[in-house]
Amino acid sequence: MVEMKRILFLTSNEGKLREAKHALEPWGYEIVSIVGGTNKVQLVEVQARDLVTVALSKIEQAESYVENAHQIDGVMVEDAGFFIDAHPNFPGVYSAHILESLGLEGILRLMRGRRERGAEFQSTIVLQIESERFVAQGSCRGRLSEEIRGDGGFGYDPLFIPEDGDGRTFAEMSIDEKKALSHRGHAMARLVTLLEDRG
Ligand code: IMP
Repeated sequence: MVEMKRILFLTSNEGKLREAKHALEPWGYEIVSIVGGTNKVQLVEVQARDLVTVALSKIEQAESYVENAHQIDGVMVEDAGFFIDAHPNFPGVYSAHILESLGLEGILRLMRGRRERGAEFQSTIVLQIESERFVAQGSCRGRLSEEIRGDGGFGYDPLFIPEDGDGRTFAEMSIDEKKALSHRGHAMARLVTLLEDRG
């Protein structure tokens, strides 16, 4: 039997962790994390306008976690953002902060009466194996729903209707359905291709 490679995913977001496991474990990558307990992941998010800069800065901070982890083959970080067309670059790299302060209701209030409801999710994943770094990106276009719908997923999922879907929000989909359409699903698929090409 081929041995699974163990990848430490530095995130404290259980939704991201669940989706990463779902996407990568079938390809022979066991995803471990330090969610829970006293050992929380605390990565500083640098102030930058693009997700790649933020993700690369997160991987630079990974060293202390790697030293304390057991038998891992690589370390992975992700930076994601939600972008609303009607408000350029917003919330973008401030997505986590804006969700915490406004909440989903606040976002809906901001968009009340707006006909332009286009939006996009983006994801940048950086995986480091020894001294090799793999950077994979994915995005997903869609629109903001008029109301909060569904109780699956996490974050902005109950507000986002992907354009290649059937009108349901991400929060109304199974993990498999979200993976097939989402920014993270696309970024993970790209990462798998990069890893397969490496051999
Ligand atoms: P982060 O900075 O990558 O942790 O994510 C920024 C914000 O976007 C956080 O509030 C996340 O909850 C949210 N977010 C990231 N990915 C997704 C997703 O797949 N669905 C919904 N919200 C997400």
